[in-house]
Amino acid sequence: MTPPLPPLATIPPDLRTLADYERMAPTHLAPDVWHHIEEGAGRGITLSENRLAFDRIGLLPRAMADLDGGTGVTLLGRAHAAPILLAPLAYQRLAHPDGELASVRAATAFDTGMVASTLSSVPLEDIAAAALALAGEMGKPRAPLWFQLYLQPAREHSLQLVRRAEAAGYEAIVLTIDAALKPAGITLPPGVEAVNLTGMPRPRQTATPGGRILLGTPLAAAAPSWDDLAWLRRETSLPILVKGLVLGEDAARAVREGADGLIVSNHGGRVLDGLPSAVELIQGVAEATGGHVPLLLDGGVRLGTDVAKALALGASAVLVGRPQMHALAVAGMAGVAHMIHILRTELEAAMAQLGCPRPDLLTPDRLVALQR
Ligand code: FNR
Repeated sequence: MTPPLPPLATIPPDLRTLADYERMAPTHLAPDVWHHIEEGAGRGITLSENRLAFDRIGLLPRAMADLDGGTGVTLLGRAHAAPILLAPLAYQRLAHPDGELASVRAATAFDTGMVASTLSSVPLEDIAAAALALAGEMGKPRAPLWFQLYLQPAREHSLQLVRRAEAAGYEAIVLTIDAALKPAGITLPPGVEAVNLTGMPRPRQTATPGGRILLGTPLAAAAPSWDDLAWLRRETSLPILVKGLVLGEDAARAVREGADGLIVSNHGGRVLDGLPSAVELIQGVAEATGGHVPLLLDGGVRLGTDVAKALALGASAVLVGRPQMHALAVAGMAGVAHMIHILRTELEAAMAQLGCPRPDLLTPDRLVALQR
């Protein structure tokens, strides 16, 4: 078996799309890491739907429109250069030795928001410091940085994470609620670990023959509940976004209980196989929440036209998951920066071709179902 190639020092001209990065990434990754990044739950129905749902949506341009505008959006009171953020991804040092530091520097250089995972392989403080240092060097404000929280079995440990994120200057907490009960992932290689959780007990499931398997076990008891959201709301004044809600009723309740934003997501098809794509669900969530909070979505976003379609369906912004790992593996920080640039360039091209010079002009009447 040939060992993975080291990351490229320069970006070859034939790397032009996110699909190109995806094609090249396996040559730069150990096979088990590649499998871990790409895998979906069950038979991969949700995973493939995440792409197919975008491909079933057609686009209708307005002719000869005035194209004076830009891609900027405001989320939670902060300006974003484009409605595209880096999704929280655990253990980025699996893909590149610099891991999250490379991603956050790329995000900073391209004024892109990033969500750092609880399971980052670089301490959350170092990620924030790297963003601040590069922004300082470049003489500009730091791009928005959010912290993704996986609740820990003991609230004191969850609270420690929140306090550390607040102290490090993170601007929002993303509470992921859909992944507490998912199969264990990869066996981590030496040097890659959940450094934010050092010293904290990790939830483990050990079923005994004839005993309970999951329901009614401590692991199930530690899964996020509505009480936890209410608790978090009391504990922090940072905006809270709930990630992993898909139904309008739940979304409306989350907003009533203090969520400042929602991320419609099926976790990249990695949890409940059979869940539809976020693009199929976001309109229901938008109707139930009445436009009162920003709605983001993720899952399968790979093209600028995907971003345009998500916005037309009511998303305020999208997040990009696996392409970060692909770009990190292929070319580290430069790869992630290039990946962001490609997506933004494609989004601008799509908006221009649609005759929509501003994100708010992307409306559902620009969409049509394709027979495929
Ligand atoms: C994830 N995702 C994730 N989500 C989260 O809230 N915290 C996390 O630590 C992780 N870790 C993680 C690792 C890997 C390898 C993957 C592929 C995904 C889910 C992620 O934030 C996002 O919801 C999906 O990746 C979006 O789908 P795409 O863009 O990968 O298709």
